[in-house]
Amino acid sequence: MVQHFLNFSDIASSEIQPLLARAIQLKSGVTSNALNGASVVLLFEKPSLRTKLSFWIGAEKLGGNPLYMSPEEVGLGKREPVADVAKVISRMADLVVVRTFAQTTLEEFASAASIPVINALTDAEHPCQALADIQTIAEQLGGVSGATVAFIGDGNNTAASLAYAVAGLGGHLTVASPDGYKLSKQVLDSANAYGSAAGGSVTQITSPREAVDGADIVYTDVWTSMGQEAETSRRLRAFNGYQVNPELLDLAGPRVKFMHDLPAHPGEEISDGLLDDPRSVAFDQAENRLWAQAALMEKLI
Ligand code: NVA
Repeated sequence: MVQHFLNFSDIASSEIQPLLARAIQLKSGVTSNALNGASVVLLFEKPSLRTKLSFWIGAEKLGGNPLYMSPEEVGLGKREPVADVAKVISRMADLVVVRTFAQTTLEEFASAASIPVINALTDAEHPCQALADIQTIAEQLGGVSGATVAFIGDGNNTAASLAYAVAGLGGHLTVASPDGYKLSKQVLDSANAYGSAAGGSVTQITSPREAVDGADIVYTDVWTSMGQEAETSRRLRAFNGYQVNPELLDLAGPRVKFMHDLPAHPGEEISDGLLDDPRSVAFDQAENRLWAQAALMEKLI
């Protein structure tokens, strides 16, 4: 059976810790030839810096051959049906990493594919980011179990995957969002169910100040995600008061760490210079994309 990674919960919660341990090992300099000549196709319909770089370089480090296809040349679902693209890539490559808009497009792709498919971000989830996030939290705190994480802002794709990842390892996530931008009840309930065996939890509130109180980690993401550009002015109004800045971090306590999956919009979800605040681990998070995804590719191939 081909194993895909379309949603964070495609990995059983008991499998997260070994994957994380492997990512940490690869980061420490252990080498691997797990891809051994395998071809890894990167099929992206939205812009990317970290995801493209980390899969590309990660595949090379594991002895594989990455190949990038741009949206213009593929025309997923436009020039050619999604399922046909998946079937053709499956005949030639060994692993495919897809960034697209609708989760249903990714699912349609995966159901026609006969090689592992990895979600490199959809409107619903960003599960590879969440793998790097828990690696970063583990590095900073020594583990994720019992950690308190506050996510401030949009209950978006990044927040949804983070909810599964933190709860799945027994951490506690509080998401503070304005009404209309909260995590869906479906995500909230299923992330809590996913994390229940490990004792993890996901809670949703409105107040950023309340969310950061006592938090080990304060995390935010952009207010306007890729594909939502037409909503920018409405979102800027809705998220007024949700900026993460040094004053908000001060409320969390002296040892708090600040996380952002990048790209950031200083002046919107963060204050100018926050990525370089001594409490920021955003660039560790970016680097960890490489190691977490290398461990993931090893597992799926
Ligand atoms: N929520 C953001 C994440 C970018 C890496 C987006 O979807 O644009």
